[in-house]
Amino acid sequence: MEAQELLGLARKSLPLAYAPYSGYHVAAALLTEAGEVFTGVNVENSSYGLSICAERAAVAAAVGAGQRKFTRLAVVTEGDAPPLPCGACRQVLAEFAPNLHIIVASREEEGQSYLLAELLPHAFVLRAK
Ligand code: THU
Repeated sequence: MEAQELLGLARKSLPLAYAPYSGYHVAAALLTEAGEVFTGVNVENSSYGLSICAERAAVAAAVGAGQRKFTRLAVVTEGDAPPLPCGACRQVLAEFAPNLHIIVASREEEGQSYLLAELLPHAFVLRAK
C-alpha cells in the first residue's frame, strides 16, 4: 500500500480521536507486512498522564490481533505542524519495527517521510534471556 493511501486511512480515523483536554487530535495507521492496516487515535484522560498516543494505540490494536511485523506508519493531525511521534512512541515502534517508514502530515498536505532509525538512533534494546 502506498503512503498516500495509508495517510488517507489515518485521516478517516481522525474524528475518532478523544482529546477534550489538549484539543489536539491525532490518528495513526499502521501497515503490516501482510498488508493489513490497524488504526489508532489519541485517547486522553482527566488524569492527564494516563493519555494514550495514537501511535501506541495502533500498535496495541495490531499486536492484540496477532500482528507484529510492520512496514509503514502514517500519522496525521489537523494542526499546522506535522505530528512527529513522541519519544515514547518511537521506542515502542522500535520494539517491533526498527526499519519502519513513517509519514507524517497535517491538514491536507502530502506529508513528510522519515525512517524510524533516523528519528530514534540507538534505540534501547534488551536481549531477552
Ligand atoms: N500525541 C499523540 O497522539 N502522539 C504523539 O506522538 C504525541 C502526542 C497526543 C497525546 C495527547 O493526547 C496530545 O497528542 C497532546 O499531547
